[in-house]
Amino acid sequence: MIAIFLLLLLPSLVVSTPSVIKIDPETNHFIDSYNRQRFFHGLNAVYKEEPYHPSTGTWNAEESLNSEDAKQLSDWGFNVVRLGVLWSGLEPEQGVFNYTYLDEISTIVNYLKAENIYTILDMHQDVLSRAFCGNGIPLWAADIASNESRPFPVPVKMPYEIIDGGTPGTEGVPDMEECRGRDFITYYFSGSVSKAFQSLYDNRGGLLDGFVGFWEEVVRRFEGENYVLGYEIINEPWAGDIYSDPRRIFNAESKLLEPFYKRVHEAIRKIDDEKIVFYEPLTYDVWPVGFDTIPVGGEEYADRSAMSYHIYCPLAGGNTTPLELKLACQAIDWDFFHQRVHDIKRIGGGGMMTEWGSLSNTNLDLAELNHILRLADDYLVSQVYWQYKDYHDITCTGDAGISLYPGGEIQDDKVKILARTYAEIVAGKTKTMKFHEKISRFDLTYEPNPKIDENMDADVEEGPFAAQTTVIRIDREHWYRRGVIVEVDWGEGQEEGKIECSEDGRKIRLIHDEGVTEGQEINAVVKPCYHLLHAMCTC
Ligand SMILES: *[C@@H]1O[C@H](CO)[C@@H](O)[C@H](O)[C@H]1NC(C)=O
Ligand SMILES: *[C@@H]1O[C@H](CO)[C@@H](O)[C@H](O)[C@H]1NC(C)=O
Repeated sequence: MIAIFLLLLLPSLVVSTPSVIKIDPETNHFIDSYNRQRFFHGLNAVYKEEPYHPSTGTWNAEESLNSEDAKQLSDWGFNVVRLGVLWSGLEPEQGVFNYTYLDEISTIVNYLKAENIYTILDMHQDVLSRAFCGNGIPLWAADIASNESRPFPVPVKMPYEIIDGGTPGTEGVPDMEECRGRDFITYYFSGSVSKAFQSLYDNRGGLLDGFVGFWEEVVRRFEGENYVLGYEIINEPWAGDIYSDPRRIFNAESKLLEPFYKRVHEAIRKIDDEKIVFYEPLTYDVWPVGFDTIPVGGEEYADRSAMSYHIYCPLAGGNTTPLELKLACQAIDWDFFHQRVHDIKRIGGGGMMTEWGSLSNTNLDLAELNHILRLADDYLVSQVYWQYKDYHDITCTGDAGISLYPGGEIQDDKVKILARTYAEIVAGKTKTMKFHEKISRFDLTYEPNPKIDENMDADVEEGPFAAQTTVIRIDREHWYRRGVIVEVDWGEGQEEGKIECSEDGRKIRLIHDEGVTEGQEINAVVKPCYHLLHAMCTC
C-alpha cells in the first residue's frame, strides 16, 4: 500500500525539478528529460574589468544584469545567457578565494532562472590577462605564466609603458589607452602571451593546478543548479608558444588542448557528472577542427559535452570596409557553419555557436546579422550573440556600437533582428525551422515523438502532456503587435492536436496526441494577425 502510494507520488516529485539538458548523441541536438529537442537563443554577458561580473544592483544600460534585465531578455524570447566567470574575479590573490564573487554570480543565475533562462558559466579570457592588455587569469597567475625575457608586447610592438592601473590588483600593467591602440587579437602574437598559454598547458609553476582549483570552486557551487546549462572550460584558447614550435599553430588541439581539457574535465566530473561541459577549438579554424574524439571525456560523455564555437566574418563590420568584402562574408559564414556542423557529427557530442555578431546597426551590419541567423536556422544551430551590454568590453574588435545599448541608448532595430521567432522546444525530431523576417512568418516542420514515457507526463512550466508539447517563442512587441495566427497541419491519421497560448501570449504550445506514428510530420505556421477583432487571432 505504501509502495503504491509512493508510486503515485513519483510523477509530482519529477515535476518539481526543471529538465536537466543533455545531448542526444544520435542527432547532436540538445534534449531534455522528455526527450524533446531544445534550441537556445541568447546573449553573452561578460564583464571584463573589476569586479568581473555585471552589476546586480539597479538597472543600468551599460553595467547591470538584474531581475529587470532578466524579464526583458525573456520578453525578447531569449532563453540562455553565456555569463563570464573569470578566474581573476574568484581568486584575486593566490589561494584566497573571494566567495562573494560566486554569490554575485549565483544571484545572476537566480534572476535568469526566475525567467526560465539558462546560464552557461564561461571562464572567459582574451589574451589571457590584464598584464597583457586583456582579461581572464589573475595577475599573480600571469606573473607565473609569462616568465618571458622579452617584455610585452614584443615582437608585436616596442614594449608598452607599465603603469599602476589605479584599481587594486592593477599595479604594474600596461596602460589601457596604449593597449587599445591596436586590435587586441595581435597581442596573441606577443612572446609573453604565447608563452603564458604554454605555461598553463604545461602546468609550469603549478599554473594548471591553480586553474583546476578555480573550476572546482565554481562547480562545487553550481552542481545542483539545473538552470546552469553547463561549464565552458576556457574561452578562445590560444595555440601555446608558437615561437618555440610554430607547428603548434596547426596541431595545438591534439598536442596541447586535448591533455589540458582532459585534466580539467576529470576534475569537474568528480564533483558534477551531470551537466554539459563545453570545450572550444582554436578560434581561427577555417578548416576542420583538430580533434578526432570528444576532448572532454570521449564517447562516454557524448551526451554531456558540446563544442562551443564562434563565427565571425573577419571582413564584416567597420566603416571603411568596402561593400564587396562585406558580401564575401556570406561565403565565409557559410563555410564556417558547414565546417563546424560536420566537425560535430564527426567528433560526437553537441555544439553551440556561443559567439557571433559583434556588429553595430548600419544597414550592412544588420543584413549580416540576418544572414547569420538564417544560416543558424538552416543548420538548426543554437546561438549566443556577442554581447548584451558594454560591460567594459576592453578586448573587442568591433566598433563601439556592438552591444544592444551602446552609449546607453537601445538599438531597437538590432534587438528586433535578434528577437526572431523560433521553436525552443520540439517534441520530436526537427526537420526545418525558418523565419521570414520580411513577412514575420515562422515555419516549423517536425516528426513528433511517438514514445511517451508515462511517468513523465507533467512539468512545472508546460503542465500536463509536457512530453508531447512543442514550444514556440514570439516577441510580440517587435513582430506581432496585433497578435498571431497559428495554423498547424497535424499530419495524417492524427486527431486535431491542441494549440495553446501562454498567459502573456509569448509562448505558443503545440500539443500532439498520442496517435502519432513513426515518420509522420507536423507542419506549423505562425503569422501576424491582422483581424480587426482580436478574438479571431490565435493569441
Ligand atoms: C570580492 O567580490 C566582491 C563582489 O564582486 C567585490 O565587491 C569585492 O571587492 C571582492 N573582494 C576582493 C578582495 O577582491
Ligand atoms: C622562470 O624562468 C627562470 C629562468 O629561465 C627559471 O629559472 C624559473 O624557474 C622560471 N620560473 C617558473 C615559475 O617557471
